[in-house]
Amino acid sequence: MKEKRSTFRSKLGMVAAAAGSAVGLGNIWRFPSETADGGGAIFIIIYLACILFFGIPLMMAEFLIGRSSKANAAGAFKKLAPGTPWKWVGRLGVLTGFIILGFYMVVCGWTVDYFIQSVTGSLKGVNDFSANFSSLLANRPKQVGWMFFFVILTAYFIFAGVQKGIERSAKILMPLLFLLLVILVVRSISLSGAGAGIDFLFKPDFQEVKSTVFLDAMGQSFFSLSLGMGCMLTYASYFTENSNLTATAVKVSLLDTAVALLAGLVIFPSAFALTANPDTIVSDLVKGGPGLLYITVPELFNQMPGSMIWSAMFFLLLTIAALTSTISLMEVVTIYIQEEHRVSRKEGLLLVVLGVLILGTVSALSPSFFNGLDMISAKIMLPVGGLFISLFAGWYLDKRIIQLQLTNNGKIRFGVNFLKVYSFILRYLAPVAILLIFLYGLIGQ
Ligand code: PFF
Repeated sequence: MKEKRSTFRSKLGMVAAAAGSAVGLGNIWRFPSETADGGGAIFIIIYLACILFFGIPLMMAEFLIGRSSKANAAGAFKKLAPGTPWKWVGRLGVLTGFIILGFYMVVCGWTVDYFIQSVTGSLKGVNDFSANFSSLLANRPKQVGWMFFFVILTAYFIFAGVQKGIERSAKILMPLLFLLLVILVVRSISLSGAGAGIDFLFKPDFQEVKSTVFLDAMGQSFFSLSLGMGCMLTYASYFTENSNLTATAVKVSLLDTAVALLAGLVIFPSAFALTANPDTIVSDLVKGGPGLLYITVPELFNQMPGSMIWSAMFFLLLTIAALTSTISLMEVVTIYIQEEHRVSRKEGLLLVVLGVLILGTVSALSPSFFNGLDMISAKIMLPVGGLFISLFAGWYLDKRIIQLQLTNNGKIRFGVNFLKVYSFILRYLAPVAILLIFLYGLIGQ
């Protein structure tokens, strides 16, 4: 029954796989709409603080738990803390992954649809991009169809175990996505009237602070970095012993943050520049909600020569970024079922696919269900998971394991205070901050 556990091949491959999980629709679709909702610069400042103070430390914690236990999200806690209830943290994570898949797959479907609309040129004739997006939402069979397509596509990669293929393609396609975003940023910020959008992103307006902005920003940081549900933990269980966990966490977080900020710099300057009505722009952006990306970006392309080529490239790369994230999500759930319930990979995968298809269909049919899944996973389940992972690594886990993992058996040297500061963050700073933000946000809901 025991199939040999695979590992990633190269150090670059490990960074690419973890970054592939982190960089996805969260950066390019979710980040801009959350930023609009959170009042722009204020949201971004809090977001960046979350990445720095608990995003990176928690990613390191997930890495070291995963690599030291070499097991799935729940199995890892069972191995490191046998006979204790800690395994429930892993199980909660698996459930969270399943729930995220349930709405994320629907957005993947929209992305594929926009790719097809670009390739066939039908996007070119559009006058009202907001109406164009609404008509996609109204077309239930199409939405469900694309969602099915994406679930099967993801399952194919999980089944074929073509981690190498994914690793290799991620290494080429991720830089390409980056490059394309940079070109789009240049285009967007050079439109006349773009300055107001840049101000919105970087000049905080302290009167605009909503009481939930802290929880929204924290939830977004967890979501974007794939933290709080054992995804990075699962990937790290495939890491080899020679990778530097701290450096990997820093690299992945920087890449992820850069992509989110670039996406913001594409969307906001162009949205402000292209709007007919500057007075209502912020409320329009907020109303654009989950569809913001699919309304503003095609409109920006339409103003450019060769619009459909750019647009096709953008949505293709976005599809690929989304795919490397859905693969990581599906891997968490599949390897859990496979290892904990002792079924074959094929059987485990079949169960996951069926479950995700059902959940995805309901969320494609019901926007309020879709929003509910998004809200519960990002604003409740991931922060709760992150809180417990931090407590586990800070208070329960033997300090020597942390030290061995972070120093690769003493091969990597850190200043004497490094581990002390790290332990302080895990024990006090991160849990207390997460708890306070969480409670404050819930009261404010
Ligand atoms: N980080 C991914 C994104 O930003 O699109 C989404 C995600 C993947 C969340 C994996 C959680 C996860 F475990």
